[in-house]
Amino acid sequence: MKGVIIAELVRWIEEAFSPAVADAVIVRSGLPGNGVYTTVGNYPHTDALAMMGALADISRQPIAVLADSYGYWLASRFMELYPEMFEGYTDAVTFLRDVDGQHHREVTKLYPDARTPSIVVVIDGEELTVSYGSHRPLADVAHGLVRGYIDYYGDDLEVIRDPGSPGPHAARFLVRKPARVLSG
Ligand code: HEM
Repeated sequence: MKGVIIAELVRWIEEAFSPAVADAVIVRSGLPGNGVYTTVGNYPHTDALAMMGALADISRQPIAVLADSYGYWLASRFMELYPEMFEGYTDAVTFLRDVDGQHHREVTKLYPDARTPSIVVVIDGEELTVSYGSHRPLADVAHGLVRGYIDYYGDDLEVIRDPGSPGPHAARFLVRKPARVLSG
């Protein structure tokens, strides 16, 4: 996995918790390199999983909740790190539609050894389905990323995770206008 994803995980822990918690997570994970990851380097994704596991122990929060929060935060970090990939987009649906064919493709040009997940988007009228698939078990991070972009573009859409999708290597997210309860 590209170092950027793991380096940003360390940064998120520092910001969302504290630098002391980030240090404790690195020590508890027992990883080589003391938590130093370069953006362009490639590392086992199990390093990120070990850190999430250690953070879950320390914070007493479920890994799924932590991974989702990390994904949500990462959505805005990608905008700071790769601003050119966001040029010309004004809504989340169009942006999400282009992740597989454009953004992740750009990522593999930037980092030829990257192995991005498959993000297949099917648009049906006003609804879309975002399907994540990867050899890495990061469906919760994907969920957070989808939520993050919808909030960023300010679209009035809700994200519902299909309870029938197998996870954590695959998941389906239904993105649609929130159902309104009619009154009166
Ligand atoms: C312009 C926007 C995006 C950029 C710049 C970007 C960039 C990246 C990069 C650099 C990686 C690391 C690949 C590797 O380690 O080999 C990655 C992985 C990943 N991306 Fe994206 N991504 C974007 C949008 C999205 C969106 C919208 C989703 C969710 C629907 C998503 C889901 C993921 C996940 C979950 C991973 C972790 C690796 C895995 O699960 O296999 N990405 N992305």
